[in-house]
Amino acid sequence: MPGLAASLHSPERTKLGGYDFYREVLGSPKYVVAPMVDQSELAWRKLSRKYGAQLVYTPMINAKMFAQDMRRQYREQAFNTTFGEEGGPEDRPLIVQFCANDPEQLLVSARAVEGYCDAVDVNLGCPQDIARRGHYGSFLQDEWDLIYNLINTLHRNLNVPVTAKFRVFSTVEKTVEYAKMLERAGAQILTCHGRTREQRGHKSGLADWEKIRAVKEAVSVPVFANGNILFHSDIERCLKATGADAVMSAEGNLYNPAIFCAADPFVSTSGPASSSSSPSSGPTSGSDAVSLLSEYLTGMHPRCTQLAREYLAIVKSQRTPTAPSAVKGHLFKLLRPALGKEKDLREQLGRARIDKNDDSVALTRYGEIVDELNKRMERDEIATEGKDPGSLVVTDGPTGLPVLPHWLVQPYFRPLPPADSDATKGKASVENAAAREPVSAMAEVAPGTPSSDVATLSGKRSVTERAPDPEEDGRRDQGKRVKLETVEGLALQSE
Ligand SMILES: Cc1cc2nc3c(=O)[nH]c(=O)nc-3n(C[C@H](O)[C@H](O)[C@H](O)COP(=O)(O)O)c2cc1C
Repeated sequence: MPGLAASLHSPERTKLGGYDFYREVLGSPKYVVAPMVDQSELAWRKLSRKYGAQLVYTPMINAKMFAQDMRRQYREQAFNTTFGEEGGPEDRPLIVQFCANDPEQLLVSARAVEGYCDAVDVNLGCPQDIARRGHYGSFLQDEWDLIYNLINTLHRNLNVPVTAKFRVFSTVEKTVEYAKMLERAGAQILTCHGRTREQRGHKSGLADWEKIRAVKEAVSVPVFANGNILFHSDIERCLKATGADAVMSAEGNLYNPAIFCAADPFVSTSGPASSSSSPSSGPTSGSDAVSLLSEYLTGMHPRCTQLAREYLAIVKSQRTPTAPSAVKGHLFKLLRPALGKEKDLREQLGRARIDKNDDSVALTRYGEIVDELNKRMERDEIATEGKDPGSLVVTDGPTGLPVLPHWLVQPYFRPLPPADSDATKGKASVENAAAREPVSAMAEVAPGTPSSDVATLSGKRSVTERAPDPEEDGRRDQGKRVKLETVEGLALQSE
C-alpha cells in the first residue's frame, strides 16, 4: 500500500484524547447506543437520538472488505455517504466501528470514514463463529501485540481518536491488564462488555459489573459499561455499581428505543393511559404493582406502534436506503408483545416479501401491517380507560420482572442458564456490583436474534434460550440475506 509505511512514522497529530475528547467533542454522553450489525443503521440511530441517545455507534464494518475498492457495493451498504446523511450533521456524535486483523487495512478503511465520524472503534468483542473464522473480534483476545498494533496504528495516523470495545476475561486481573494495554496502545475510550468470550448464545448469562468497575478504576480514559441493561432504572444502577462514565445498550435499546428517557411521573409509563393485558403469570396485586412500577418503570415505554410508525417515517424520509431486513428486524422487536396477541399480523409481517430490486414494496407492506396493528392496540387501550396503570402491570413468573400491557414497548427477557453453568459464574459478583439490587441482563447475539437474560428481585434465575420465538419468520428472511452476502463475500455478521 503506497505511502502507508511512511505515514505510519509521521509525527502524531494533535487531536483531543480521553476526557477532553469525551467532553468537548462528544458532549459527555451518558447514554450510548451499541454497535449492532444490521440494527444500528442510520434510521435507527435517528430514532434513538430522538429518544435520548447521546452517542451512537454504527454496525460493525469489516475493514478488509471496506478497504477494497472493488467492494463498492459493500461500502455503500456499510456506510453510505452519497447523500450526506450518514455521518452528516443529524448523525452525530457518531463512532464508526470496524473489525480487523490487519493494521494497514484497518487504517485504509478508517481513513475513508474519518471525515464523517467523531472516532473509530475497534471491535474486540465479537464471539461468533464467523469471527473465529475471520480471525477478528474476541478471537484476537490472546494476540495482544496484534491488538496493540491495530489500535496504535489508528492512534498515530488518524485525525480522529480510536476507541475499543472488548469483552472481559475470566479473571479481574487479566481483564484489567488487558484494558491497560488497550489504553497504552492509544484507545481514548474503552467500552467494557462484562461478559467473557465464552458467554454467548444460550450461555450468555449475566455481565459482570465488578470487572467493569475494576477496569474503570485502573485506566484514565473514559469507560463505557455494557451489559445487563433491560429497564431505564438499570442505567443508574449500572453507573453507580461500575463508576463508568456512560452506559451502552444494545438489546435494551432495540426493544425500547426510549430506554434512555425518564418517564413523566405524572403520566403513566406510556404517556397515554394503560389498560389490562392478559397476564402471563396472573395480575399483580395493587401493592406489588406499585413497588414494581417504582422499582423498574422509571423510564418511558411508548406505544409500540407509535414508535414503529416513527421509525418507518424516518426510513421513508431518507435518501439513504435502509436494508428491508433491518427494518423487519426492528419491527419484530418493537412490536413483539403486540404481535404476540395479534398472531395473524405477526404471520403477515413474517411473510412480507423483500423485493431486492424495490425496497418500497416491503416498506409499504410493513406500513399497512403496522397501521392495522395500531388500530387494534388503540382498541385495547381504550377498552381499559380509567384503570389504575399500576394494576395493569403483571409479574413474569420465572424472573419476577414486570410485564407491561402488550401495546407498550418493553424488554424481552428470557431465563438465565442454570446456576452452575459457565454463563452464571459471574452471577455473585453481579449481585454484589448491583448492591443487591435487581439486575437485568441481555445476551450478545447475532443480528435479529432477540435474547435477554434476567436476574431478578427475588434472586430467581432462569435460562436463556434462543428459539423458538415469534421473530422466527423475520429472522429467516434476515438469515437469507446474511447467507447471500456471505456467498458474495459480503458477510455483515455481528456478535
Ligand atoms: C443485533 C445485535 C447486533 C450486534 N452487533 C454488534 C456489532 O456490530 N459490534 C459489536 O461490537 N457488538 C455487537 N453486538 C453486541 C452489543 O453491542 C452488546 O455488546 C451486547 O449485545 C451486550 O449488550 P446488551 O446487554 O445491551 O445487549 C450486537 C448485539 C446485537 C443484539
